[in-house]
Amino acid sequence: MSLKSKIDLLHLPKHIAIIMDGNGRWAKSQGKDRIFGHHEGVESVRVITETAANLGVKYLTLYAFSKENWNRPKAEVEALMDLLVLSLENELETFQKNSIRLLAIGDIDSLPPKTKATLLRVLESTSNNSRMSLVLALSYSARWEITDAAKRLSADFQEGKIKVIDENIFAKYLTTNNIPDPELLIRTSGEYRLSNFLLWQLAYSEMYFTNKYWPEFRAEEFYEAIVDFQGRERRFGKTSEQIKEIN
Ligand code: IPE
Ligand code: IPE
Ligand code: MG
Repeated sequence: MSLKSKIDLLHLPKHIAIIMDGNGRWAKSQGKDRIFGHHEGVESVRVITETAANLGVKYLTLYAFSKENWNRPKAEVEALMDLLVLSLENELETFQKNSIRLLAIGDIDSLPPKTKATLLRVLESTSNNSRMSLVLALSYSARWEITDAAKRLSADFQEGKIKVIDENIFAKYLTTNNIPDPELLIRTSGEYRLSNFLLWQLAYSEMYFTNKYWPEFRAEEFYEAIVDFQGRERRFGKTSEQIKEIN
């Protein structure tokens, strides 16, 4: 039985988030430079986006560039920004054909002007698409996001625009406002950390770690993660017996 046929399509995670890691190490294992790994990683992005949309996943969030990644060698940062522009331009047609809406979370104003302009153009062009939202985390870090939310929330509170502060109100100030929390987080490349990704939103997500490097992570690996997820019991603080009573 293929892995895909083991997936219960009626209980798919609505939102899957992925920390795409291991491009550099994959390239090294092939005797190539890191940039080659990033190029091959783009192919995985294409395949996983298509696979997720075809299955019926509603939100796919990809950690593409962290705020910490600005500290990489200048040439690598520039190559990644150029690759982003190229990929967005190349993928626009596929986004339209498959009705994929692009969203971006992160400190978009910190992107180089050309990258930002291309991104805004693709965001705008795909804004009415409805099959799946592809959320790119760009110049993103969760501590930046939470601090930024707290600043704007306290300003609104002082001006009397909001009267109470609770979890739901706070979440509206995050860059993920209107996006449901991910049920499943995947990280590739055998690293077991969050690297400043979605610290608020992942509070109750299931985590799936694989040793595969991102350029090796394709449809079968994605199906495997979903099958694994579907075998888990999500208790949200309750007992197993309580969960079984509900089902
Ligand atoms: C992930 O691969 C891509 C980005 C962070 C932009 P890496 O570039 O982190 O690859 P490794 O972890 O060094 O192998
Ligand atoms: C996390 O990967 C960020 C992205 C995938 C964009 P890194 O490779 O930058 O993470 P660390 O620094 O090894 O934790
Ligand atoms: Mg890495």
